[in-house]
Amino acid sequence: MAIQRTLCIIKPDAVEKGKVGAILQRVQEEGFRLRALRQVHLSRRQAEGFYAVHRGRPFFEDLCEFMSRGPVVTAALEREEAVQRWREVIGATDPAKADSGTIRKLYGANVGENAVHGSDSEANGRLECAYFFAEMDLA
Ligand code: CMP
Repeated sequence: MAIQRTLCIIKPDAVEKGKVGAILQRVQEEGFRLRALRQVHLSRRQAEGFYAVHRGRPFFEDLCEFMSRGPVVTAALEREEAVQRWREVIGATDPAKADSGTIRKLYGANVGENAVHGSDSEANGRLECAYFFAEMDLA
């Protein structure tokens, strides 16, 4: 199986609720290696840059407002089949539709404030990790 990287973002709602420790513990229990880790308070423009693929969609403005309202914790995660595995651990985008035990079911409030992000492909995993971390941080 291929070793992949995926980007985890612990979003402002989960940081505000004090769930950073619980989510990072889950990351490690699920067998992911933390290649890089940082806390950052995104500017509105940085949030728009990260979610540029969603520009023009009805939820884009609210999404960028939310993602820049407080600090986030970003982590570059690595393991076999990391992209698919992390998406299984976090659950469906809408917490109401997420399987029990998933991070979004446990800590998400709604489709906008859904606690965590995960990359949706191996290529995006690499691109998204590079948005937050320098090559030196990931080496
Ligand atoms: P995320 O996986 O970080 O990627 C895009 C985000 O847009 C998604 O999580 C949701 O939090 C957010 N979002 C808000 N509203 C919607 C919606 N109606 N459909 C999909 N994503 C949405």
